[in-house]
Amino acid sequence: MKIPLDRSADRNGRLPLARQIQLHFERLISQRLLAPGVKLPATRELALELGVNRTTVAQAYEDLVAGGWARAHVGQGTFVADAAPTAPPAAPTAPRLEWTGFLSKAAQIVAADARRREAWSQSARPGPGIISFAGGVPDSALFPTDAFRRVLNRVIREEGRELLQYYPSSGYPPLRQYLSSYLLRFGLEARPEDILIVNGTQQGFDLVARTLLDPGDFVAIEQPSYPRAMQVFRAFGAQLLPVPMAGGGLSVDHLERLLERQAPKLLYCQPSAHNPTGLTMPAAARRRLLDVAARHRLPIVEDGFDGTLFYGERPPAPLKAADASGQVIYLGTFSKILFPGLRLGWIVASQELIERLDMAKQLADIHTSPLIQAAVYHFCRQRLLDRHQARVLREYARRRGALLAALGRRMPDGVRWTETQGGFSLLVELPEGMETAALLPRAVERGVAFTPGNAFFADGGGERALRLSFSAVPFSQIEEGVRRLADSVRELGRHPERSARVRGPAVPLV
Ligand SMILES: Cc1ncc(COP(=O)(O)O)c(C=O)c1O
Repeated sequence: MKIPLDRSADRNGRLPLARQIQLHFERLISQRLLAPGVKLPATRELALELGVNRTTVAQAYEDLVAGGWARAHVGQGTFVADAAPTAPPAAPTAPRLEWTGFLSKAAQIVAADARRREAWSQSARPGPGIISFAGGVPDSALFPTDAFRRVLNRVIREEGRELLQYYPSSGYPPLRQYLSSYLLRFGLEARPEDILIVNGTQQGFDLVARTLLDPGDFVAIEQPSYPRAMQVFRAFGAQLLPVPMAGGGLSVDHLERLLERQAPKLLYCQPSAHNPTGLTMPAAARRRLLDVAARHRLPIVEDGFDGTLFYGERPPAPLKAADASGQVIYLGTFSKILFPGLRLGWIVASQELIERLDMAKQLADIHTSPLIQAAVYHFCRQRLLDRHQARVLREYARRRGALLAALGRRMPDGVRWTETQGGFSLLVELPEGMETAALLPRAVERGVAFTPGNAFFADGGGERALRLSFSAVPFSQIEEGVRRLADSVRELGRHPERSARVRGPAVPLV
């Protein structure tokens, strides 16, 4: 261990060597560079390395123990104490580089977005006792963790050597092959070479943006929409052109009018299981959208992130299934139907574009983990995903039903919400004159949380909207959560002037 000892110590009347060693460890421990439980180097080895007497090191360790920084175990050594003091980082000794002056345009846009998101991220994971409809995530209590662990163990045992090596960026061939067959279930015909494996839809947005967008380009986007997609397009310097929704999907009439005036580089939409509304674009509107897009040579980024998560009628086939001109880029993910932590998704596009996206991917991260791809492939091949999906779909359908019923029973007049048909959430609209920003602190006080709708509106609107996600709320808490929310709405109606700010840890918005 490198410890900068001042060997002139004794002669110059500076600190003795033992004290210097002690202070060095105190600094490392207080700043958590050495975590509780970590073993300190053996006295003999450290003494040798530092060229000091062993008793000097032993003295330093004794003082550390006496000061509560470490604990000694006879015959085992000295360890960092569990409750060792922590300290704020030491004041810098040299002037520090100010990074803000170096930030790229993209980083500045991301930072501005992060500030804008402050309100909703504060609400997303509030404290104990709060029923949170905020996170649009799958319920980890339903995860098939043991089954996946068994598959992963086998994959490491049998294919570990190849899978832990660098790997082709396009993905694990059996998984691409599997996806080709899987997508047929939705009417989508994609050859393995039309598929690129990526680190979740989020990387799909990024690769599409860096391949197709230049600063100043316009991107048409359904409104409301998924904030993380908007952030990526904005970060690449694009300006968003919101297209309102009508009849379940984006208004094709509105898009047509927009295309007469402007020429967006692409359109982003979620025709099924739309986040945040849960609505589905009807088949006829999908056909019209494809027509209009073909006429205007407008590429479409279709986020089909959980086409399997629907309640009631099966949604129409994805746009990509009827994409004769090859202008739809379809993004899929295992995040909602399996585990978001795997960061595994895919892009389907014409081979020419897939090759470009692949080049961008190689620059970004060389490839997605082949180990994870192989594990997911075997998980799917053993039909474990199908079984899991059927099970969670039943549970999510139950929660959705409970949420809709509770809203119907408890919400005051004037509150409206979308009849979610797929995905994890629905969008509520408060009556005229009420704002979600004022509702959230009251709701959190009463023990319920949600995501303010403003985050989903590209034009900064949505002040009266809020998203409720039912996927991760236990069935037994839904009625009570809605009761608390409805009471908060009533209270806001009675005292619109009283408001407070909520504080909580920030979590990613999904
Ligand atoms: C609309 C939409 N697209 C995609 C995703 C999934 O993203 P990823 O695959 O990066 O986890 C989400 C997650 O919430 C989403 O809401």
